[in-house]
Amino acid sequence: MPSLDLADMRRQYPEILGDWTVPQNWQRFSQAEHDVWRTLYRRLMDVLPGRACDEFLAGLELLPLNEGIPDFEKLSAALMKATGWRVVAVPGLVPDDVFFEHLANRRFPAGNFIRAADSLNYIEEPDVFHDVFGHVPMLAHPVFADYMEAYGKGGLRAESEGTLHNLARLYWYTVEFGLVETPKGLRIYGSGIASSSAESIYALEHASPNRIGFELERVMRTKYRIDDFQESYFVIEGFDQLFAETYNDFAALYKTLALGLTHEAGDVLGEDRVIHRGTRSYRPNSHAASK
Ligand code: PHE
Ligand code: FE
Repeated sequence: MPSLDLADMRRQYPEILGDWTVPQNWQRFSQAEHDVWRTLYRRLMDVLPGRACDEFLAGLELLPLNEGIPDFEKLSAALMKATGWRVVAVPGLVPDDVFFEHLANRRFPAGNFIRAADSLNYIEEPDVFHDVFGHVPMLAHPVFADYMEAYGKGGLRAESEGTLHNLARLYWYTVEFGLVETPKGLRIYGSGIASSSAESIYALEHASPNRIGFELERVMRTKYRIDDFQESYFVIEGFDQLFAETYNDFAALYKTLALGLTHEAGDVLGEDRVIHRGTRSYRPNSHAASK
């Protein structure tokens, strides 16, 4: 586990600021590191057309993401024009309150390192490919951009009220692992799926996982796996629906949530709108943790 203490981090990154940002120092990335990005990018471009939603693909097209690790200055200029968001570099994971504060101000923090060439499918912590390729395309979409800002503001409140575990599940099952129903079929918008070629195929086509209609309270009661493919994906009807359902103040909802049940990641409930009931044939990592 990396240190989440700013004074500790400062020993390793003397340039780190109070908001945990560091200069990206784009020139320092080696050709080998840019090649890791390009290899991952090419792989994803083989699977995402026809699987990612149109909004994600439009963001990919609009932003300068296809020439190696992006220069955040240029990337932010393009993103700023679309929705007023910027991308800022951080050493890695940051404390929750720091993360929320960035989102609330339309800044997306991205890890300032890239995975090793010999472990393209494995990362212990989100790297620049996950953070930028996975998250930033959707931030070019106006409704999703507003959703992320609102989430940051909600995060600051949830933290002070002790309800972060509920809110974190919403983030997980939407921002990270969300699917959306479209006239063309189910499509990916979650960054954790869209930055993994294997999970992109699994999430949409494998018989194993459940695919269940998004319901806010249900999702906020459901634990999630952090170290393997998901056992359930939740499917929104569109970004307007997602925003409309989450816009209201969660104060009353948090009280309700505190009283009722918590569900396991693979549970299917009587009241679920089941789009696909998983066969559970894929055996998740036996050391799996869930939150
Ligand atoms: N409406 C939520 C609250 O009152 C904030 C939020 C908005 C959370 C959008 C997630 C997404 O806390
Ligand atoms: Fe992420």
